[in-house]
Formats: sequence, structure tokens, C-alpha cells
Amino acid sequence: MSIASAATSRVLNPSLEQKIMTAQEAAALIHSGDQIGMSGFTGSGYPKVVPIELAHRIAEAHFHGQKFQVSVFTGASTGPELDGALAMAGGIHLRLPYQSDPETRKRINAGEMEYMDVHLSHVAQFVEYGFLGKLDVALIEVTAVLEDGRLIPSSSIGNNKTWIDQAERVILEVNAWQPSALEGMHDIYYGLQPPPNRVPIPLIKPGERIGSPYLNVDPNKVVAIVLTNSPDRNSPFKAPDDASKRIAGHILEFLGWEVKKGRMPANLLPLQSGVGNIANAVLFGLEEGTFEGLTSYTEVIQDGMIRLLKSGKLTCASATAFSLSPEMLTEVNADMASYRDRIVLRPQEISNNPGIIRRLGVIAMNGMIEADIYGNVNSTHVMGSRIQNGIGGSGDFARNGYLSIFMAPSSAQKGTISTIVPMVSHVDHTEHDVQVVVTENGLADLRGLSPRQRAHLIIEKCANADYKPELIDYLNRAERLSYGKHTPHLLTESLGWHNRYLRTGDMRRREYN
Ligand code: COA
Repeated sequence: MSIASAATSRVLNPSLEQKIMTAQEAAALIHSGDQIGMSGFTGSGYPKVVPIELAHRIAEAHFHGQKFQVSVFTGASTGPELDGALAMAGGIHLRLPYQSDPETRKRINAGEMEYMDVHLSHVAQFVEYGFLGKLDVALIEVTAVLEDGRLIPSSSIGNNKTWIDQAERVILEVNAWQPSALEGMHDIYYGLQPPPNRVPIPLIKPGERIGSPYLNVDPNKVVAIVLTNSPDRNSPFKAPDDASKRIAGHILEFLGWEVKKGRMPANLLPLQSGVGNIANAVLFGLEEGTFEGLTSYTEVIQDGMIRLLKSGKLTCASATAFSLSPEMLTEVNADMASYRDRIVLRPQEISNNPGIIRRLGVIAMNGMIEADIYGNVNSTHVMGSRIQNGIGGSGDFARNGYLSIFMAPSSAQKGTISTIVPMVSHVDHTEHDVQVVVTENGLADLRGLSPRQRAHLIIEKCANADYKPELIDYLNRAERLSYGKHTPHLLTESLGWHNRYLRTGDMRRREYN
């Protein structure tokens, strides 16, 4: 029986129905020191009531001088009811693999919380191989529990399959707010065996389905089911600003040239688009542009993807989660059934699978904090030490895509920071994984260039006018004075810009150490 025929309850399995309890009762089944795999990916499909009750328990324990902390593993970022509440209570010992919550970020950067920034495609196997120890609890939001006990996932998949398979105890939040028309949109692949028994994943087109629309769960492991009716919370959408539009323009022009040169088909190759406004601006640009019959093999479905699907320019989108503005979410939820054949939500070890990304020839487009003149990219750490969010899936797509594009405005924080620097203060993507760097000033195609050629091109095309003369000066002197001339650097100065910012609040002042 599908949930469409069940008007009253979304828990159709009689024995699991017996396990329905309050969020408070369910939170009482979680113990200090537990490692918990929670659902949730960019504000979609995360548990919304048990984490809050858990945060209350933790705060109370702390008030009475007792230790109480848990480790929280998710798909990626979540919402304020999960990361915000638990961080505020000082309840998280270790967090992984990605977050974007302000309170969590504050605690991590204050050294009060351990945080492991992991490639999203690696997380499931890290847990399956036992690298992270035992998983005690899986706390998963679902849309419904079917009569036979299988689960209809909600608006994200992330690592839910792995959490359910690996955890000792399973707690389900069944969220009536999630549209029942989500049923059939998911594709859960159960064929991934550990090495040496792993075989090729049989997916050769972005929109293909290779698994089941449902999650399996051993009913004996389910210790609690909590009924909820709470919305997902994603960030409001900011209309693309001038810099984003110009970056989008450079990328679209470049893709057009690539087609003309016969390096990709007229409908391009499957698109991956990272988080943030610039990524959305590129998708908006595609809507106005001339490309037709596009496909997408990506991590999250953003507003721009939905608009492309609606206009018919995008034929299908594969991802692991929705990441929609509140306005777009309302629109999509009201019309979910119409997207079921064109959107596939998969576990993140499949949506971000390096082998599939390489096989499909994905065009990877991701934001960055800074790039250096040689094309190394920092996606995660401000001034080399303060984490912003995390690497997310950018590494999965950048290293394995057909084309790897990194983009950012040429300056940040009102021009006080150059996003093109002599040497990045933290490396997420090495020069070997970065083929194109774009700012509002221009696009540097680094393919086929040596380090010194790359440096001249990045400065010429991408640097901000306020910083360009200093970058040229640095490179010229490095080319003369560097210990080696293959990748010229002046090590006493290469991080001087960051030092200067830390001392004066502005990278622009010229005072070499
Ligand atoms: N130094 C200091 N701060 C910087 C900076 C730099 N070089 N570059 C950006 N920032 C700050 C911005 O000023 C802004 O700060 P604010 O919140 O105080 O305004 C913040 O970082 C976000 O930057 P913004 O320009 O709004 O870009 P964004 O929303 O596109 O985010 C990243 C950029 C790099 C943070 C984001 O793309 C990210 O987290 N990437 C890593 C994960 C990823 O790529 N995921 C996609 C894979 S599918």
C-alpha cells in the first residue's frame, strides 16, 4: 500500500506503529558518548524535534555538572533545530562531514568542538570500514513507513542508508510536512560491496535509476518513531549581484567556445553546481542562454535547477538533496509529482561517486575562498585557520570531473581581501585539480599551461585592480629570486598578505615583512 491511500497515518506497519512515542521519550534513548548518524543535507530532510529534546537533556545534564556530549555525523549541513540547538547546548564532541551553522562554526573556531571536514563521497565508507568507530544511533527523518516496513525517504538522502544499516539503534522521525508525492523520486542503490568484491556501479546516464525508491530497515533495530509536522529550513534566495552575473557570463561564453571547438556536445555535459549565489547565477544564466537538452549530475537541487527544469532546458537532475529557497520550496512541494520523473535523489556516495563523475564527464562548478597564482584553491579556511563551512562535495567533483571550474568575486569583505593571492593559506584543491579560475574580471583557462604560464594568466584575467600591481611585482621578483624557477615563490613573503590582513584588517597595505 502506498501512503497516498493512507489518509490518517504515515506509519502503516503495525509492529512499527507500536514504537511511536514523544520526542522527549525518544531523546531519552540517546546516551552521552553516543555516535549518531543523522539525516540532513543543506537544510533538507534533517530530524527536527528529537535533536531539540536531546539539546534540552544535554543542557540539563550540564546544569547539574554532568558530562553529556554526542558525536554527530550527517549528510552535510542541517538546520537550526539540529546543528544550532546542539551546538548552543555545548552538546557536540565531534561533528562531520560538513556544516554551515553560525553557532557550530563559532564553537569549532573557538576550539570547543572537534570537526572533521571530509569529502562527502568518503563518509559512508569511512563508517562502513570502521574508521570512525561504532555508530550507536541512526536518527533519520522519513516521509512515511510502508506496510512492509520499508521507508519513504524525505527531501534528502545523504548517508541515511549507511546510518540505518550500520547503527545499533534506529530512531525515525516521520514528517507529515514532507509531500507524499516524494514517493518514487529516490533511488537507493544496495549493490555497493566493499573491496575486493566491489563491481562497477551500473549507472551510465545522469537520470537513470539503478536501485529502489525505498530505504530498508531491520524493524528490530527501530527503537522509536516520532511523528512530526515541521518544514525544512533553507536560506532565502538572494538575487544574483553584478559580480555573480559577470562570473556567470564568463563561464557561459567559455562553455560556448568549448562546444564550438568540438570538446563537448551542444547540450554540454552533465552539470554540477556548488552551493551559493554565484552557482545559482550560472544556472540563471543558462536559463537565458541558448543551450538546450541539458542534464545535471550534482549534489543539490537549487532554485536555478528548478527554473531550468521548468523551462525545459534541463531534461533531468540527479542529486542527493533539495536546497531550495523558502519561496521555491513552497512552489515545488505543491507540484512535486510533476518532478518525479526528472529528479532522482540518491545516496551521497552515489551522487558524488568519483567513478561515476569521471564516467559521465561532469562539468564541476564550485565556489572558493581564494586561489593562488598557480591555481591551488582554498574552499574552506579564512586566513588559513578559521573554517567557513567545509570541502563538501567540491573535491569529489573537481578532481574527477571532465572540467573543474572554481569561481569567486576577485575581492571579499568590502575589498579588504584579495581572493587571488600569492599562496593560498590552506589547500583543498591542488593545482592539479583546478582547470579554470573565474572572477568577475575574467576567466583563466589553465589547461595545458606550466606553473609560470598559469600565474601570469590568472593575474592578468582574474585579479582585482587594487591588487594586480602587487601580484605582478611578487611574481616578477619570484621569477628572479626564487630558489627554484619551476613554481617561483618567495617564502618569506608568500603568506605576507594574510599576515598583513591579520595585523591591519586590510590586505591592501604594502608593507612586506
Ligand atoms: N577571505 C575571507 N572571507 C572570505 C573570502 C576570503 N578570501 N572569500 C569569501 N569570504 C567570505 C565572504 O566575505 C562571506 O562572508 P560573510 O558571510 O561575512 O558575508 C562568506 O565568506 C561567503 O562568501 P560568498 O562570497 O557569499 O560566497 P558563497 O556563498 O558562494 O560561498 C564558499 C563561498 C567558498 C564559502 C562556498 O562556496 C563553500 O562553502 N564552498 C565549499 C563547499 C563546496 O564547494 N560545496 C559545493 C560542492 S557540491
